[in-house]
Amino acid sequence: MRKIKTAVIGTGFMGRVHTEGIRRLGNVEVVAVADVTAELAQRFGQQFGIERTTGDYRALLSDPQIEAVHVCTPNALHYPMSKEIMQAGKHVLCEKPLAISSAEAEDLVEVAKAQKAANCLNHNLRYYPVVQHIRQMVANGDLGDVLVVQGTYSQDWLLYDTDWNWRIDSKDNGPLRVMGDIGSHWMDMVQHLTGLRITSLCADLQIFHKTRKRPKVAVETFAGKTLRPEDYHEIPIDTEDFGAVLVRLGERARGAFTASQVNTGCKNRLQMEIYGSKAGVIWNQERPDELWIGQRNTPSYLIIKDPALLAEKARGFADLPGGHGEGYDDAHKQVFRRFYQTVADRSAPVDYPTFADGYQMMCLLEKVLESHNQRAWVEV
Ligand SMILES: NC(=O)c1ccc[n+]([C@@H]2O[C@H](COP(=O)([O-])OP(=O)(O)OC[C@H]3O[C@@H](n4cnc5c(N)ncnc54)[C@H](O)[C@@H]3O)[C@@H](O)[C@H]2O)c1
Repeated sequence: MRKIKTAVIGTGFMGRVHTEGIRRLGNVEVVAVADVTAELAQRFGQQFGIERTTGDYRALLSDPQIEAVHVCTPNALHYPMSKEIMQAGKHVLCEKPLAISSAEAEDLVEVAKAQKAANCLNHNLRYYPVVQHIRQMVANGDLGDVLVVQGTYSQDWLLYDTDWNWRIDSKDNGPLRVMGDIGSHWMDMVQHLTGLRITSLCADLQIFHKTRKRPKVAVETFAGKTLRPEDYHEIPIDTEDFGAVLVRLGERARGAFTASQVNTGCKNRLQMEIYGSKAGVIWNQERPDELWIGQRNTPSYLIIKDPALLAEKARGFADLPGGHGEGYDDAHKQVFRRFYQTVADRSAPVDYPTFADGYQMMCLLEKVLESHNQRAWVEV
């Protein structure tokens, strides 16, 4: 089997998750990593046994051996980096959100088309085995007509005004923080599972901390808790901590969700609730192998992931037997595996989120902001 050579840009939280996930595939090798400084890249290279490291990702783009690149950097860099990677003749797997505006995202879709580049947007949360089971339940008609969708994506890691991350700064993050970072996952999942599109919405955003204390040194995602108060500058904040959105999905289905990074005690609670005319389901990312199935006339029940019990088309997303937990890292692996199948064989079916999905999501996010600013419903 041919070994595909790849590179990872950005060696923070996602850089680690991607490197480990790629290595689990077997037929793909991370041959180089880049970060903003040579020191950061080198530190990561030493930890993970990757010899080629650089403080300038462009140094990797002229290497014909590298077929694909993973973009794991702050949001504002996704567009320029993905574009340059594709223009250098390489395939790209980019972290979400795809860009910081729909215009940028649309351009990336065009460049991918022109370059015939395999292009994947990492909405990995679709690929928990139980989530794929929900998708098949909907497709098989087990839920009946989808009537109501509800949920949340709740975290608490930015609860205090001393919590800091690049996401808080709109220059690095783009204009929408909580909605772009995690609301986008919820919207992507609800559309993926129901097969419906969000067709209009009404959003309300809130910045609880009008100023925050920015550390004088750089901090990695989820690492802010260890810094001391004397290490901060006080700065004004222009990205939201919380958002609530009413959604319509076509003529019939209705729903609502919240996204928050200040929900005390919630660590990474993406909750998806879908209620149909025959049955309902609830899935919570903090308990990823469990699925509640709600019924009107017989007792509702809980299933635990077991490939033997999953819908046939969902089984390919479970690599372990029943009762053996499959979680966040595994969902990434499922995306990467499918992406590299199309890198290895350009005629293989595309069974993962693409830049076209990323463009649609950027359009939705801009509508969220427009609705909030106008304090009104907007059509998508
Ligand atoms: N799919 C998911 O579940 C998921 C989860 C978390 C983050 N993300 C996304 O992943 C991306 C990265 O987030 P993170 O949490 O890993 O952030 P992070 O801060 O932990 O890591 C970002 C890394 O990028 C590096 N970087 C910054 N500028 C660079 C440059 N010019 N060249 C090379 N490297 C540079 C930083 O030094 C850092 O190492 C974001 O777009 C985020 O939305 C996705």
